[in-house]
Amino acid sequence: MFDFRLAVAENIANQTELEIDAISALIEIPPKEDMGDYAFPCFRLAKELKKNPAQIAFEISENLNQNSPQWLKKTEAVGPYLNFYLNRGYYASIVLETILSELDSYGKSQIGQQRNVIVEYSSPNIAKPFHVGHAYTTILGQAIANIYEALGFNIIRMNHLGDYGTQFGKLIIAWRLWGDEAALAKEPIAELTRVYVKFHSVLKEQPELEDQAREAFRLLENKEPAEVELWQKFRDYSLLEFNRLYERMGIDFDNYNGESFYSDLIPEVVEMLEAKGLLQESEGAQIVDLEEFDLNPCIILKSDGTTIYASRDIAAILYRDRTYDYYKNIYVVGLPQTNHFQQVFAVLKKTGFAKADQNIHVGFGSVKFKDGDFSTRKGNIILLEDLLDQSVAKTKDIIANNNPDMSQAEIEQTAETVGLAAVKYTYLKNGRERDIVFDWDEMLDFEGDTAPYLMYTYARAKSILQKANFVSTEQNNLDFSLLTDADEFGLIKNMYQYPEALIQAAEEFEPSILLRKISQLARNFNRFYHNTSILKTEDAALRQARLGLVFAVSVVIKNGLKLVGINPVERM
Ligand code: ARG
Repeated sequence: MFDFRLAVAENIANQTELEIDAISALIEIPPKEDMGDYAFPCFRLAKELKKNPAQIAFEISENLNQNSPQWLKKTEAVGPYLNFYLNRGYYASIVLETILSELDSYGKSQIGQQRNVIVEYSSPNIAKPFHVGHAYTTILGQAIANIYEALGFNIIRMNHLGDYGTQFGKLIIAWRLWGDEAALAKEPIAELTRVYVKFHSVLKEQPELEDQAREAFRLLENKEPAEVELWQKFRDYSLLEFNRLYERMGIDFDNYNGESFYSDLIPEVVEMLEAKGLLQESEGAQIVDLEEFDLNPCIILKSDGTTIYASRDIAAILYRDRTYDYYKNIYVVGLPQTNHFQQVFAVLKKTGFAKADQNIHVGFGSVKFKDGDFSTRKGNIILLEDLLDQSVAKTKDIIANNNPDMSQAEIEQTAETVGLAAVKYTYLKNGRERDIVFDWDEMLDFEGDTAPYLMYTYARAKSILQKANFVSTEQNNLDFSLLTDADEFGLIKNMYQYPEALIQAAEEFEPSILLRKISQLARNFNRFYHNTSILKTEDAALRQARLGLVFAVSVVIKNGLKLVGINPVERM
């Protein structure tokens, strides 16, 4: 698409000595519409030209107004600022024609050049409940992966399952003592949690269980068939349950290699660290000193020779490097693990690992609930499934209320889609390092900053198009240069900025940046809708152009929502 900022920069560059890039970086978007669409402060040039900045602004403006390019309406010098006013009709034509021809691909690009980007997310622990914290990494990780994919990167989606560690010894013993096959088949995680909890509650009376568990884990590490078989069974059953949740939420992975997989590669890590002289003994354990990074030492092997969480992560990085030769290796994991990743990355840096700076920990805050908004089924852990079910149930009441003649089946289906979307949006709408507070009234508010609001706006646009029998393939006859009103121009600007927002969201690992753009667009669209009687527009050409604008808005809202895993519905 025509790059208006670049065009502004080129025109300034033609009259000065500054490089285009330097100019481009100085260009601002004025806070108010009447100050122009782009502005260039002339202070920098004042130094180079040894002239007063206001004088420079005035001279460039005079020149540009004399031989103004097609995209430019006029420039104005206001003090040291050079303000640019775009030719709105031209702008509308460029932007809308691009959207109507690119449709689903609008915003996508190939800047990634198919380089490999690993996004690791979700990574729940086998045999443990899938709680609302795991939902955060799952939803955020999927959105980040989708955004990078849209920018032309080749994405490897990894689920680093917590399927290893001493707790599996305990689970094996507990299962042998109290496990119930039928219950496992029916509700795997509930059953595994039950025996695991029981193990801890009887430890006081039967302390010998602790030793038995340690022995069971040792046997598992030695790959004894009986222990491996049980471990495999726990893993398979747990995954069955996780996959049901993933399917419901539209989440997918390319790879489920968990910690156990990397555990086998630890000898290689130890050998490498030893060869580089980085391993030290400390109280029987093997460690890498990280004082130069202001970090605590990283333990590689415990005194009994077993591996830990961090060593498995180091092994995983070596494996990922070898297998995918990655451009970026992104970990979507909560902020409490910041120190862990700093240690892991620092160890690699110390070894001289070439990609040490291409490993990125993308942290996020914690999940809270407004007082009294959630009663838990199990202690204070809130299960994702309960959260989803409640959201869908509440949404169903609203949808049924708003649509008296919708069939029961459609109500159910719409409620499932909208209810899940409301949850996803709540996870993603704010900067990821902030804590989230779930508040039902807020997240299901059809007028608030919510998924239902955005989806409702989309459905509204669709319904206008349907009433007008608008067919998007008739775009050739549309004269978008008629769309020059402030409301129309504002909407078109939002859509022009969408591809930039997508890139920025990727750079900062912040889907919220993309969503903010979509939500601005939706607000502005609703304002336009209230101020303009689109269907009753008398001038036929203007009416058609406005319908084309409505269609473009629906395309951009849909594209943005889909990237964060939300599928808008046609009516609700
Ligand atoms: N399983 C861990 C947990 O639930 C998260 C794993 C994060 N990923 C990693 N490579 N360490 O806390």
